[in-house]
Amino acid sequence: MQFPEAQRIKNLPPYLFARIERLIEQKKEEGVDIISLGIGDPDLPTPGHIVEEMAREIRNPANHQYPSSAGLPEYRQAVAGWYRRRFGVELDPRAEVVALIGSKDGLAHLPWCCLDPGDTVLVPDPGYPVYAGSSILAGAVPYYVRLKPEKGFLPDFADIPVETAKKAKLMFLNYPNNPTGAVAGESFFAEAIAFAKEFEILLAHDAAYAEVAFDGYRPPSFLQVPGAKEAGIEFGSLSKTFNMTGWRIGWAAGHAGAVEALGRLKSNVDSGQFNAVQKAAIAGLTGPLDNLNEVNEIYRQRRDILVDGLNSLGWRLEKPKATFYIWAPVPAGYTSASFAETLLEKAGVVITPGTGYGAAGEGYFRLSLTVPTGRLKEAIERIKRNVGQVNF
Ligand code: MLT
Repeated sequence: MQFPEAQRIKNLPPYLFARIERLIEQKKEEGVDIISLGIGDPDLPTPGHIVEEMAREIRNPANHQYPSSAGLPEYRQAVAGWYRRRFGVELDPRAEVVALIGSKDGLAHLPWCCLDPGDTVLVPDPGYPVYAGSSILAGAVPYYVRLKPEKGFLPDFADIPVETAKKAKLMFLNYPNNPTGAVAGESFFAEAIAFAKEFEILLAHDAAYAEVAFDGYRPPSFLQVPGAKEAGIEFGSLSKTFNMTGWRIGWAAGHAGAVEALGRLKSNVDSGQFNAVQKAAIAGLTGPLDNLNEVNEIYRQRRDILVDGLNSLGWRLEKPKATFYIWAPVPAGYTSASFAETLLEKAGVVITPGTGYGAAGEGYFRLSLTVPTGRLKEAIERIKRNVGQVNF
């Protein structure tokens, strides 16, 4: 029997990094020494005190039962405490915080909570592929809001036709931004909140990279801007902050109606995150943060090696203030796809083609800083040997 594939699955493109992972496996089987600057997956270990807490909690039989789906009260309190300390934001841990199995879980389920089939959703382009993918799954229709370099990769609300804004119910935002590394200040969030209020659009701010920042820059939270809690929710994650991508733990916080709906949906489709993981996450959110500075210093050094290296070959890149991504134009004569293919075939270097993040990513590629310094230097050497000096 043929698999009776639903239309919504037919409409769903394969996940970008699943495709790239298969490509890498294939090359490795052929014996190629691959340097992957593809997925942004921290290579540094989770801080020791978090691992120790996990080791203790995993031995406690009470944690072997079903977890609390919305999150342990003490986990939600730890998230509220994090917001108070880091951003000066007060949250009601019961009504304004819900635990997630990684922020991707919440980003992927939110459209089901607020979009009916045919509804319009505003999706940044380029943008993290989950925003569009999950909206398409829910039957909604993405309207792609172009993030332009001349606007610092911030959406220009004036670009969105009034008729589209009137129809839209949800808008995704993401700063510090994946894939461009762009940052947004409080004044931008205030502008977004005014737009959302005018058109009654829920804002979903993905803040996964809020702690990956350099040169003294500290990204603000969307929730610290007046009116934010009435206009939207913020997605937070321990993945990139504490090198915990494999642990799958995050949260959504803010708008009480959105938090309740997300919690209700999730209680129907999953049973929450393992309590031992939640307790280890509490150790992260309430414990010492020196590791964070050390890790950011390592990313800063890597950023400088990559940006200086590419600039020595003809690029003219500025150093991003946050995220562990470098977003760069492809040289003259290439498309995003052909440049990615050339680097893979000739240099054994994996990059992410800009088009993986939407049509506006054409002409760009993304590099991740989640590999050690030596390999980054080697990647630059290989690009120099195989592509040489470039122009645009
Ligand atoms: C990325 O590389 O864009 C992210 O690490 C992928 C993800 O979070 O799924």
